[in-house]
Amino acid sequence: MYFSLFLVCEVEIEYGLLQAENPKRSCAWFHRVISGLDSSGHAENPEVHKYTDCCPDGVCLDDGAHPQALLHKLKNKKMKEAMEIENIFTYDATWTPKGIDPSIDMHKKYLDQFCNDFKNKMQDMIMASIAEHKVAETDNLLYIEVVQHTLFCKKKIQVVYGRKSTLKDIEDYVRGPGHYPLVIHGKSGCGKTAVIAMAAKAISEFMDQKCCVCLRFLGTTPKSSSILRVLKSIMLQIKHVYKLTTKIPRSSKGVFDQFPTFLSNATKELPLVIILDSLDQLSPLHGARKLTWFPRQLPAHVKFIVSTLPDQEYKCFPTLKALFKNSKCFVSIPELSSDDVSDILTNWLITEKRTLQEHQLQVLKDAFKQCPLPLFLKISYDETRLWRSYSTPSETCLEITIRKAIDKLFERVEIRHGEVLVRRALGYLTAGKQKILGFILNARCSTRNLKA
Ligand SMILES: Nc1ncnc2c1ncn2[C@@H]1O[C@H](COP(=O)(O)OP(=O)(O)O)[C@@H](O)[C@H]1O
Ligand SMILES: [Mg+2]
Repeated sequence: MYFSLFLVCEVEIEYGLLQAENPKRSCAWFHRVISGLDSSGHAENPEVHKYTDCCPDGVCLDDGAHPQALLHKLKNKKMKEAMEIENIFTYDATWTPKGIDPSIDMHKKYLDQFCNDFKNKMQDMIMASIAEHKVAETDNLLYIEVVQHTLFCKKKIQVVYGRKSTLKDIEDYVRGPGHYPLVIHGKSGCGKTAVIAMAAKAISEFMDQKCCVCLRFLGTTPKSSSILRVLKSIMLQIKHVYKLTTKIPRSSKGVFDQFPTFLSNATKELPLVIILDSLDQLSPLHGARKLTWFPRQLPAHVKFIVSTLPDQEYKCFPTLKALFKNSKCFVSIPELSSDDVSDILTNWLITEKRTLQEHQLQVLKDAFKQCPLPLFLKISYDETRLWRSYSTPSETCLEITIRKAIDKLFERVEIRHGEVLVRRALGYLTAGKQKILGFILNARCSTRNLKA
């Protein structure tokens, strides 16, 4: 004959309480003690069996322990030790021949009390759990945003070199006493984002990690494309780092009004450095590019570094020029020095375990002189991947403007993959950047349209 000596209830207690991760927080025990139940006078009463464990005669475990003794140990030692004292609710009830009987006043009182305690405890635990998850969720969203920009930065840093003098200007600004922002500017492809990435790393290093860097490459994530979401996410980061209890406002007006107040939480021990790359990438929503949100005067221990295109059409740069008359606020990205160019090419080739013949390298450097932008250098360098050491001079020519270099690249891709596919794929990518909804894209790229 087989006796299961583990009650289902015992197994539940084992897994739900004794082996649980955080039983002091997650377990409650409603413990009823019925006095008079053990009296031998009730032996014949079948009601008794509904309230107490019955153990067949002579059943003992291997080590000779009696199940009742084990139950006693479980209740009075193991469970009590595992639980928080305020999560144990104990009720005394006196045995009657009908068992627990709500028609008896004494039992009704006990049952009402038990139901009330149970309801309140459950409510408290559920509310606490919801609050905890809410915090975790917000932290998690902030974490994802911060990680995405940090990874973007890390990836950039792996392929960019030089720029010592610009980095020195930025370091002097961060170490200096100025209460004004620093605006890095230069035309498209001149290396602003590269400098910002290098500066973010350098700042963390020379501040010995003892500062809060809020780094956003605007437009690279949904949360960094609208100024409202950017400011909210920075306020969240400040709140988290400086352990503030202040709530982040929900309304856009609240966010714009409160942003300067959040900045003033920076301390001498933990200065705050906010870095926003490409203001021009902000969507014009909420007047983002009119810069009404932009701090005019920075509080103590705060540095504010931004980068932008100088073009009139994005409004940011002319507005900044009008707002800040101090020339120290502006750093223009200079042309790459020939030392930097050599340094960059050497490093790119080493990283990719490639070599270029001396005369091929010269073709690249000569082309760069015609169009001295890092973006052009990058596109032209990518073009040289097609070259072989034995390629003839006619096969190792480069364009001399970015536009022509890109046209040449597209032409090659079109020859390889077909014009329709390339046109649609590039259209898709461009539309994706403009956040056109997926279903519209699907419709546009449908087979019917492709054939059209
Ligand atoms: N100092 C540098 N070293 C190596 N590559 C660079 C450097 N500066 C820019 N680049 C490359 O040139 C291209 C354009 O630079 P980017 O920083 O995006 O320009 P911008 O932000 O001004 O438009 C990128 O591919 C970048 O990796
Ligand atoms: Mg950029």
